[in-house]
Amino acid sequence: MTSILIDNLAQLATPVPGAGPARGADLAVIDVAAPAAIAIVEGRIAAAGPRDEVLAAHAGLPVHDAGGRAAVPGLIDCHTHAAFGGDRAGEFELRTQGAGYEEIHAAGGGIGSSVRATREAAADGSLGAALERHLGWMAAAGTTTAEVKSGYGLDRDTELAMLDAAAAPHAIEVVPTYLGAHAVGPEWPDGDAYLDFVIEDVMPAAAARAEAADVFLERGAFDRTQAERYLRAAAASGLALRLHADQFSEAGGVPLAIDLRARSVDHLEATGPAGVAALAASDVAAVLLPACALMLDLPRPPARELADRGAIVVLATDFNPGSAYCNSLPLVMSLACMQLRLTPAEALVACTRNAAWVLGREHRLGCVAPGYDGDVVVLESDDWRHAAYHLGGPVVSAVFKAGRRL
Ligand code: NIG
Ligand code: FE
Repeated sequence: MTSILIDNLAQLATPVPGAGPARGADLAVIDVAAPAAIAIVEGRIAAAGPRDEVLAAHAGLPVHDAGGRAAVPGLIDCHTHAAFGGDRAGEFELRTQGAGYEEIHAAGGGIGSSVRATREAAADGSLGAALERHLGWMAAAGTTTAEVKSGYGLDRDTELAMLDAAAAPHAIEVVPTYLGAHAVGPEWPDGDAYLDFVIEDVMPAAAARAEAADVFLERGAFDRTQAERYLRAAAASGLALRLHADQFSEAGGVPLAIDLRARSVDHLEATGPAGVAALAASDVAAVLLPACALMLDLPRPPARELADRGAIVVLATDFNPGSAYCNSLPLVMSLACMQLRLTPAEALVACTRNAAWVLGREHRLGCVAPGYDGDVVVLESDDWRHAAYHLGGPVVSAVFKAGRRL
């Protein structure tokens, strides 16, 4: 366990600790200390805030001189598909020439093409290295904790290999999610037969490896009845519930998520006013994925409305080889500010404290405050807002996970 004093910070910007996620007026609340320092003792934050106070109590630690830069909490990416083989650059090119994402999927490409590549990678032993490479990109962009979903195996061995790769030790913290219902496995005649197999033959072993289960509720994937069956089986196995829903069409994902007390419903590009109102009145987080909306040129999710009505608003990359080949939460924060009309403070809270809540880690992640894990991003700039403002820029100077520099 590492101890370090991060000194000479022009600013420390962090959400304030609190019970549960930040919503309503609290979504915009961050604490900015300037100048600042952070003392991390044995991996945990011992003191953080005004420089004089931190230095007075914690002299004698090894020092990282931040050189007058700003710091924010380690970023938390609560929705990724980072364990995959291959890539889909060819489909990307086809889409620039007019092919549709859903059309490619219906023709057996899309998720199906990543399933073939991921099965190969799991079989030849290269899947772990692929995940490691992707996690390295994420860490370099400031991510210190990431959720990683299965869902590119759709058979027992590959799904479990994906979850095992996620659960293995990494430089950043990884939270595995079983996305058994991402698409119908190619061996199965229909979704119902595939889900029989998933629930009987895979769920028990997947539940021993994952913390949550996820489903793609959409035309061309699973319908509401099928999603409910899968999620109820997952809940009975002790998993938290997540949904991909309202990406292309409103197909009942929001009411289902609320009925089943899911942790989150993710995407929401097609969600209308009734869905916004229902989410605002619920404890289901709205996880917004603006890199996906950009890459697929979808309507923007109703972020401003969700935030103003008091929903739990969260941001994530959705990093995957098809709809969101983007590993950078700072870029997602930029998109949230420019295209979803969130403020920099709301964007920061959405991918720190609120993302920690989605992953069940809000008691120790998402804030730079005493007792929290020593997860810190030192930015290049002396102004923390550059994390969102510097579009696609080199915003990160140094990343610390539990006090250890990555
Ligand atoms: O979140 N929508 C479903 N799943 C992923 C994309 C998967 C893929 O295209 O490989 C998503 O966008
Ligand atoms: Fe996704």
